[in-house]
Amino acid sequence: MSQRDELPAPVPALFPEAADRERLEGLLTRELLEASARVARGPVIPTLDLTKFREELAAFDFAIPRKFEDLLSWTLARMEHGVVHMTHPRYFGLFNPGPTFPSQCADRIAAAFNPQLASSASSPVPVEIEAHVIRAVAARAGLPADATGHFATGGSEANLTSLICALTRAEPRFANEGVRAFPGPVTIYASRESHIVWLKMAHQVGIGRTALRLVDTDGQGRMDPRALTQALAADRAGGRVPVLITATAGTTGAGMVDPLGACAAIARSENVWYHVDAAWGGAALASDRLRGVLSGIEQADSITIDAHKWFATTMGCAMFVTRHGPLLSEAFHSSTSFMPSSIASLDPYLNSVQWSRRFLGLRLFLSLAAAGWAGYGAHVERAVEVTEAIKERLLALGWTVVNSSRLAVLCVLPPPGCGEIRAIVRRVVASGRAWVAAATFEGRDVVRICATNGVTTAVDVAELVDVLQASARGSADAGR
Ligand SMILES: Cc1ncc(COP(=O)(O)O)c(C=O)c1O
Repeated sequence: MSQRDELPAPVPALFPEAADRERLEGLLTRELLEASARVARGPVIPTLDLTKFREELAAFDFAIPRKFEDLLSWTLARMEHGVVHMTHPRYFGLFNPGPTFPSQCADRIAAAFNPQLASSASSPVPVEIEAHVIRAVAARAGLPADATGHFATGGSEANLTSLICALTRAEPRFANEGVRAFPGPVTIYASRESHIVWLKMAHQVGIGRTALRLVDTDGQGRMDPRALTQALAADRAGGRVPVLITATAGTTGAGMVDPLGACAAIARSENVWYHVDAAWGGAALASDRLRGVLSGIEQADSITIDAHKWFATTMGCAMFVTRHGPLLSEAFHSSTSFMPSSIASLDPYLNSVQWSRRFLGLRLFLSLAAAGWAGYGAHVERAVEVTEAIKERLLALGWTVVNSSRLAVLCVLPPPGCGEIRAIVRRVVASGRAWVAAATFEGRDVVRICATNGVTTAVDVAELVDVLQASARGSADAGR
C-alpha cells in the first residue's frame, strides 16, 4: 500500500499564511480604529437603507469567493452605518456597554487560541482563571469561601441555572421525572418590575409560564414583602409548590433594588431557593461607596451578575454564583466516556447548562486585573455621577424624576403639556444625537436614561439634555 506523502494544501481563504494574516490583521486594526473614531462623532442610530442592504446581501450567493480585504472593509462600513452604537458616548439606553479595552483584547486572545472550556483537562489554565474570578466576585458579594459558579452567555442563562437548581433542591426526583415528580403545580416568585425573562425560563424548564407569580411592588418599583408572603400563602393553600423567590437588585426599568434582606428571610422561612438577579446592579459591588445598596445579597443561594452590563465586558458574558456547589453539580451531572476529564466539582460541562464553551471569563479577569476593584468602583461611581449631572440639568428645566434609584438609571417626565412620552423618545432617537428608551415604571410611561458608557463627557450630557428639551417641545431642531 502506497503511503501518502503529500496532502492537499490548506484552503488559503480560511487559513492564510502568516505574512498574509499579519497584513490583514494590521488592516483590520487600523480600519477598526478609524471607524470607532467616526462612530463617536456620528449619529447613534443606523443610517443605511435596509432595502438596499438586503439587495446587496442577496448578491452573496457564495458561488465565487471574494477578496478578504474587500470583505473586511465592506463589513466595517456596514457595521458603522447598520447598528445602534452601544459604544457611542451618547447611548443612554439599555444596559449595553461600550466594552472595556481589556475585554476586547480577551476576545481576541480567546479567538486565537480557541480553547474548549468544557473540561479542565482540555483547558486547565482558562478553567482556573474563570473559577478564580467567580470566587473573587462571590467573596465581594459576601458569599462563603467555598462558593462557586461559572460564566454564562447572559443573565438569561444564569437565571435559568438558578431555576434548575431550585427545582433540583426542592425535589431530588426532578432530574429524572421532571415536574411530574412534584405533588402539585410548581410556582416561582419575582416582582412585577422584574425582568420578564423569567417567563421564558418557566416555559423552558416545563413548569409553564403561569408558574411565575408577579408580586406587587411598593409604588417605588421594589417587591413588596407583604405581597410576597400573601402570594406564597395563597399558593400553598391552593396545593401549589413554591420553589424559588427571585429578588431583583437593579430593576431593568428603573434600577430599583428589592428589599434583599426581607426577601431572604421569607425564602428561609418558606424553605425555597433564594436567587438575586443582579444582572446589571451587581457591578455596584465594586464600589465601596455603593455596595451597601446591595446589602442582603450575601444571603442569596445564588446570584446572577452580567459582566456584559455595568462591568462593561463584551457581549455575552455573565456569571452564575452559588453557595451550593454540590447541588450545582447534582443539577448538571452527566457521564460520558469521551470527555478528557470528568471532575464533578470542577469541569464546567458538569456544572452548567452549556457543554462546549468559549473562554468568556478572560474578559472580566483582564479588566479586573488591569483596573482592580478600585478602578471598577471608579467606573461605576462615574456612571452615577453622569446620571446626577443629567438629573440636575433636567430638574432645573422643570422635568420630574420619578424613580429613586441610587444606581445609574433615571426615569423622567417632561414638564406638563409636552405630550406623549413615547413620541418624545421617538424624536430623540430619530435625531441620532442621543439614544434613550421609553419604559413603563409603576404603571406609567417614562423616559428612561441610563449611563452605560464609560467615556461619556459633560459635553455629551449637555447634548442629551438639549435634544430631550427640543424633543419634549416637539421642536424640529431635535434632529439638528
Ligand atoms: C435584571 C435583569 N435580569 C436579566 C436580564 C437578562 O440578561 P441577558 O440579557 O444578559 O440575558 C436583564 C437584561 O437586561 C436584566 O436587566
